[in-house]
This record gives sequence, structure tokens and C-alpha cells, in this order.
Amino acid sequence: MTLLKNIIASLRAYALTLADAIVAFFSLLAVAARALLSGKGPLKERLVGALTLPSSQIKVFAVLRAVLPNFFIAKQLITSYENNGTAFVTRATDVIEVLDREEDFAVVYEPKMRAITGGPNFFLGMQNTAQYQHDTSLMKLAMRRDDVETLVTPLARARAEAYASAFPTRIDVPQELTLRVPSAIVAEYFGVSAQAETDAIHWATSLFWWLFVDLKGDPAIETKALMAAAELRKAIDAAIAARKASGETKDDVLGRALDLQKGAPEFDDLAIRNNLIGLVIGAIPTISKASVQALDQLLDRPEALAGAHAAAKAGDEALLGAYLFEALRFNPVNPVIYRRANRSTVIAANTFRARKIPEGAMVLAANLSAMFDPLKIEKPNEFRVDRPWGEYILWGYGLHTCFGAYINRAVIPAILRPVLARPNLRRAAGTAGQIDGGGTPFPQHFVVESD
Ligand code: HEM
Repeated sequence: MTLLKNIIASLRAYALTLADAIVAFFSLLAVAARALLSGKGPLKERLVGALTLPSSQIKVFAVLRAVLPNFFIAKQLITSYENNGTAFVTRATDVIEVLDREEDFAVVYEPKMRAITGGPNFFLGMQNTAQYQHDTSLMKLAMRRDDVETLVTPLARARAEAYASAFPTRIDVPQELTLRVPSAIVAEYFGVSAQAETDAIHWATSLFWWLFVDLKGDPAIETKALMAAAELRKAIDAAIAARKASGETKDDVLGRALDLQKGAPEFDDLAIRNNLIGLVIGAIPTISKASVQALDQLLDRPEALAGAHAAAKAGDEALLGAYLFEALRFNPVNPVIYRRANRSTVIAANTFRARKIPEGAMVLAANLSAMFDPLKIEKPNEFRVDRPWGEYILWGYGLHTCFGAYINRAVIPAILRPVLARPNLRRAAGTAGQIDGGGTPFPQHFVVESD
């Protein structure tokens, strides 16, 4: 009887995958037709623009999960890191398999990490080595989990209230709020302040762009990033020297890192600098982009926006977070996480979708697709605020899961609460009310209004 039930449940799940794919396919055709028949600019650009929107990516992945869940092409789509072809992995189980098999599917960032620090690797560029465990262990002592509640969230709340209150009915969200709060966290909690707030934002943005987003290896982006790296190194060196010279014993990440030198002399000033660089790059553009994209998705869904508004007004940051992270599922900061195969191997072995991956292939594990896989996620196309937290892959999975994961979960609702509590929150008219990256992959302008 149980066997029969299992068979029926499996058939139902696969039928759902197929149904999802058919609906997605026809709605992609409609998206393409609309792009071809309306709008300005060259046809190809309009078509590519429409089909790469996050809502279209979700549909493309729905089709792939049903008909071609794992595949390899000999073409190098990412040219900024060495590889000999590209594999796509779309089903939740297989995305998780890739990210769990860290020994076989390795991070690729090491050469750029070394260029940024001017020598040593940073732990995101390492495999699960003794050095990785050493560095992350020390940094976890410097950046403690309880800080999220006692230091980071109160700081984010206070800053968000102050920054937002200067723009009570119309606010350019990235410029006035979501870039400013994480840079305050970097200055006041990490202990790394630049001469001007905009410097830290600019450096972190350039570096993140080069490391993770510039998949084609654009020399102009590299030049800017290497200049930013030199500035950031100087700023952190200065912060360390100033702290030591003043004798100040501040209870922040830098203060604790310096304290740890007593028991771990190898954690010298240079090692502290290199670890702090990684944290600064990770923190600013990402938190801002996640906040802006979550807000953008909410503004497209009046019912969800009303729910988030009520939670924000009631000061219920946990419920507000449920709205925001569900919104972010529809447009996460990164839709794929990439790895390189260390050896020739098979993904999803012993299944009909098993796929051989050659050594040296770049493997794109589509976390966006995993979060919409009906084989894993209940009614994935619905906006729901009761999903188990474990279903979200918003900032990585496995060994390299974001170091700031707990910060992100607490701080994003705190940043957006003052704006979402406003009555009749809406996009500003015209292009001002749409996300504008200003030629970068990060939101620079996005204006919202309220009564
Ligand atoms: C919403 C904001 C954020 C997003 C979307 C995000 C995204 C990610 C992703 C996808 C990864 C994994 C990369 C991979 O596996 O290839 C990652 C790792 C990392 N993130 Fe974040 N991040 C965010 C905020 C932060 C913050 C606030 C910090 C600093 C406190 C940070 C520091 C790091 C570090 C150091 C790693 C490497 C972890 C490791 O190698 O073990 N990130 N992040």
C-alpha cells in the first residue's frame, strides 16, 4: 500500500513538473511576442531583455527542469575564469548535490582574491582546507553570532530610521538608504571606515562586480577593481594602525581580531586586513541589492505589499522578513552559483537525468531554479510567507554559505521597515520608479513615494 502511495506521489510530482513547464513555455512565447511587437530599440535587444528578466528566467528554468534538467555544452560562457565548457544544473536536488560536493566542484575565485589582497588567498577562494578552517574559525570569533542581535541589528535599525526620516514622502532607496546602512555597519561594526562613506560603497561595488558578476573578463572592470582594491587595502591598514596607535579597545570586529593576535600570532595585521577585505566586499552592494530587489517585487504584488506594510507598522520584523525573503526568492541577488569540476564526474548518478561533467567544466548550479522546483517546493509559483526557511537559497549553500547569512536575515527587514511602514507606498512615476543600475549590475536609483 505504501509502495503504491509512493508511486502515485512520484507520478503526481513529475506531472506537476511537466504542467509547470508547459505553462511556462507558452507564457515565454507570449513574453517574446510582446517584446517583438512593442517597445523601442533593436529587435534582438528587446527579445534578450524580455527573456532575461527574472520572471522569464523562472519560466526558462521550469522548461529546463522538465526537459533538460542537467546538460553540458562545450562552449565557455564564463571567460573570466579558466574552464573548458559549461554545465547547467536546474533541479533542487542536483543544485544541492553540486554545492555539497565541494571536493569535486570547487570555487574558482582564488586568482582574483590574490590580486585583491596583493598576495594571500581569502577563504571564499579556498577549498575545505586547514587554512579555510583556520581563517573562518578566527573570523567567527571576531564576528560573533550574538552580535547580530546585540550590535548589528540595533545599529541598522537606528541608521535606517535616521536616513529614511530625512526623506519622508519620496526616497531614492539605494542612495539614501540601502547602500548607506551597510556602509555604516562596515564603519562602525567591522571597524573599517573610509574617508568618505561613498568611497567604501564604490570600492566594494567595483570589487564585487569584478569577482562575481563580470563573467566575460572586461579589462575596464578589472582596472577599476584593482584600483579599488589598492584603496581598500590602504584604508584597512590605516584603520589597524590608528586603532593600535590610539590604544582604544573597541568591541567591534577589528578590535576582537587584534585581541586574537595574542593567542594566534600568525593572525598578523596583514592576515586581519585580508580577511576584512573579504567581509567589506561581501557586505555593501549585496545587502543593498537584496533590499531593493525585494522591495521591487513587493511593489508588483499589492496583497503582499499590504501584508508587509502591516508587519512593518506593527514593528514585526520576523513577519516582515518572511515577506521580504519570499519576495527576494522571485529575484535573488544571484540566480546561479558557479563552481569548476575538479575531475571528470557524474551529477545525479543512477537517475534518468544523470549527466557526465568533464574535468575543468564550469558548473552553474541554478539556485533560482531550485527555489521554484515543484519536486521540492510546495506550490512554488505562489507568493507565501509560511515556507520553511531551509527552502531558500538566497546566499549560497554548503561550505561557502554566506558568512553574513545571519546578518542579512536580521538587517534587511530592519533597513526596509521605515519605508514599508509608510502609507500608500508606491513607485515614483516613470523610469524613476524602476530600478536603475546606472551602468552597473547594482541598483543605483529606485525612487518610491508615499502619502
Ligand atoms: C543579502 C546580502 C548578501 C548576499 C546575497 C550574499 C551572497 C553570498 C553568496 C551567494 C555566497 C556564496 C558564494 C559561493 O558559494 O560561490 C556568499 C559568501 C560569502 N559572503 Fe555573502 N552575501 C550577502 C551578504 C554578506 C555580508 C553582509 C557579508 C559580511 C559580513 C558577506 C560575506 C561573505 C563571505 C565572507 C562569504 C564567503 C563564505 C565562505 O567562503 O565560507 N556576505 N555570499
